[in-house]
Amino acid sequence: MSDGLSVGVIGAGGIARSHLNAIEANDNIRLVAVMDVDPARVGAVAEEFGATAYTDLEPLLADARVEAVHVCTPHALHANQVVAAAEAGKHVLVEKPMALTLVDCDRMIDACARAGKILMVGQVMRYYPVSRTIRKMIADGEIGQVGHLIRRRYSFFDPTPAGSDSRHWYLNLEMGGICVLYCFGPHEYDILHWYLNSPVTQVYAQGSESTDLYRGQKDSYTAMMTHENGAVSVLSQTVVCHTGAHDQYIVGSKGSMMLTGDKLTVNGKEVSVEGSSREGMSNQIREFATCCLEGREPDASGYSVRHSMAVIEAAKLSAERNAPVQMSEFDRA
Ligand SMILES: NC(=O)c1ccc[n+]([C@@H]2O[C@H](COP(=O)([O-])OP(=O)(O)OC[C@H]3O[C@@H](n4cnc5c(N)ncnc54)[C@H](O)[C@@H]3O)[C@@H](O)[C@H]2O)c1
Repeated sequence: MSDGLSVGVIGAGGIARSHLNAIEANDNIRLVAVMDVDPARVGAVAEEFGATAYTDLEPLLADARVEAVHVCTPHALHANQVVAAAEAGKHVLVEKPMALTLVDCDRMIDACARAGKILMVGQVMRYYPVSRTIRKMIADGEIGQVGHLIRRRYSFFDPTPAGSDSRHWYLNLEMGGICVLYCFGPHEYDILHWYLNSPVTQVYAQGSESTDLYRGQKDSYTAMMTHENGAVSVLSQTVVCHTGAHDQYIVGSKGSMMLTGDKLTVNGKEVSVEGSSREGMSNQIREFATCCLEGREPDASGYSVRHSMAVIEAAKLSAERNAPVQMSEFDRA
């Protein structure tokens, strides 16, 4: 193992700052460059973090010091940037959602496989200590065979800054996808099959446009999923609810779990978990660097996360068709 992975960050906006702080906090990774189409933003970030600033992708990818990139840009840009990075011989950590279509997910997986490079997706919730505890307890059979899992993520999310006269890209369907499904959904749909270590076989979903904040796109979805192991999971999400909730119940043959925020209880008794969800980004970045340096497949690999993106596509399609959708429709040819 060398003394650390040298990386470039593509996109210097909101989430990039969390990546930059986490890179600084880990000793197996170091920042050498940052790229953004906004010259003032990238200049300020590069100066603050002591890196080279680029305003185009090509020179960043041609920078021989850069061994890997973090893609932190708007959703519709992910696929082409990941493919270009792989073709330039870089490992890639791409923010969620992996991409807006499965065709793009497959292009990204294939490009990284052809180049022999790591592709990891920023499924940060897999790196929360409490998520890992839940997954391990289920795998160890502590609540027996899981039959039912229900999860809610209710929040009010208005991405356009007050007083701004242009809508944020998160509200642009072509650039961002349906926000509730492609901004928050990638975390939520991913964690369910990951907890159970069991892929989804069928999805039935309904969506609604509860307010006009997201004009023209549904702002709330509820999906019911059947897993290969027979468990049923339900995910209810909205981005227009002023009263927030982020919680879940998991019901097994020998007991049940409840999670509210970071507080986990099993059969009514609180379980002590070492570490908080605030460490998720740092854990994720450390795992990415380790995988690149050791040539190891990350847990949140492109292949693993493709399934989560397929479940989201199935939920969207199910609501459109008003009928259950079989996941076999989304298998690769
Ligand atoms: N893991 C999480 O919890 C989490 C949280 C927020 C956002 N995200 C994800 O991070 C990504 C970025 O979201 P954000 O909220 O930081 O957005 P943002 O708008 O704050 O930042 C995006 C940046 O990309 C830059 N950009 C636009 N086009 C570009 C291009 N062609 N090349 C390089 N840079 C370009 C913009 O100038 C901007 O600085 C999205 O995929 C989003 O879903 C993840």
